[in-house]
Amino acid sequence: MKITAIRGFRDILPEESASWQVLTSQARASFAAYGFHEIILPVLEKTELFARAIGETTDIVEKEMYTFIDRDDSSLTLRPEGTASVIRAYIEHSLHQKEPVSKLFYIGPMFRRERPQKGRYRQFHQIGAEILGRDDALIDAELLLMLNDFFTALRLDVSVDVNSLGCSNCRPQYRERLRAFGESKFAVLCENCHGRLHRNPLRILDCKEEGCRQATKDAPVIADFLCDPCRQHFAQVQALLRQENVLITVNPRLVRGLDYYCRTSFEFIALGLGSQNAVCGGGRYDGLVEQMGGPAIPGIGFAIGVERLAMLLQAQERIVATAPDLFIAPMGEVAESQAFAVARRLRQGGYRIESESGSRSLKAQMRRADKLGVRYVLIIGENELQAGKGTIRDMQTKTDRSLAVDLSSSAQDLMNAIRDTSDQPSAISRQSEGAEHSSKPEV
Ligand code: HAM
Repeated sequence: MKITAIRGFRDILPEESASWQVLTSQARASFAAYGFHEIILPVLEKTELFARAIGETTDIVEKEMYTFIDRDDSSLTLRPEGTASVIRAYIEHSLHQKEPVSKLFYIGPMFRRERPQKGRYRQFHQIGAEILGRDDALIDAELLLMLNDFFTALRLDVSVDVNSLGCSNCRPQYRERLRAFGESKFAVLCENCHGRLHRNPLRILDCKEEGCRQATKDAPVIADFLCDPCRQHFAQVQALLRQENVLITVNPRLVRGLDYYCRTSFEFIALGLGSQNAVCGGGRYDGLVEQMGGPAIPGIGFAIGVERLAMLLQAQERIVATAPDLFIAPMGEVAESQAFAVARRLRQGGYRIESESGSRSLKAQMRRADKLGVRYVLIIGENELQAGKGTIRDMQTKTDRSLAVDLSSSAQDLMNAIRDTSDQPSAISRQSEGAEHSSKPEV
């Protein structure tokens, strides 16, 4: 029987991985401009790390983690997100003693046993970033600006929802009020929300069931419960973003699915992705480092879903696979080994070279070069070889010219000569591409 990939685990084929390259290089460039450095973390951690950081009663910890008992009886989990690991590493390596503010980013796979659907997988990838050591509104706005720069550079149209989830002073009152409100609607809420009412009533605002959405339409909003410092903090974040012309929508229903958040929370939403349309989520988590056994250091961060963003980029058909700089078409066995040497020399010089076996017809090789979108083809035929020459075909102008292939010249000189279009179309006639089995060009 054929062995296939596990449900929810995908292969990223070259046509898709091209957009991943674009995303990750842009992220690296945008994040570097704001002073971030990469942290590379293990994918496997002790289970208790996630239970403590994300919250015992969240969907992720209750139902979605890939947890197993290792041979030494310890319970291990494939990471469902990156923030918990960053905090663990931050505390473990006492990074706060090295720098008052740490700005870290990570790129890698995460694992959640969710129900797979378009844009939702069991292994997916995140580009995440965390800032530890600052709790002012300026840094929250700066993080959102960085994301805005990233999405703008990719020319992706996204909307930004923000909310403040208050702090340990003001949120308990809101939570109780929301619980009382939920109890009054108990009969119309779904079974999941019945459970949420006891564990974390804020999550009833997040429910996708239409009945629950209707029932909570007039639910109390957290903005009316924020304490003065939280209110001021949120107002300043919004003012700074407005000052920089970043369009945001305050969404009082934005509560996020992980327990560690406080104050500024946000999500970036993209049109055209169906129901899994959140391409980035994040927020502030001021108590988390301390809760995980470290010093009382505030934090804020986000994670971008790579698969969802790649889908957006592909839908816009803006990713063009990079064509090789040159295609080398050898004609026959002897020419093949010459082509082999030229290809190596040019590749060592940093050029992207594609070549073929000398036993394939010129026509077939040209077809392949055309498909690759390559501009220049170097045809090495056996007759020319003796004179140390090749034929350059410019696929754009459809002209041929003769070129001395001197292996003692540098890769750059060779490539410059190949690209030199100042030559007149040579006296050499156009190659006949008709003969499927011809082993040399008709020069
Ligand atoms: P999250 O909202 O759970 O936050 O995930 C962030 C992003 O990861 C989502 O907006 C989505 O694009 C993507 N994502 C999540 N689950 C899946 C899935 N099953 N399939 C495909 N994409 C998915 C976090 O993970 C937090 N650690 C973010 C954070 C960092 N908060 C503070 N710092």
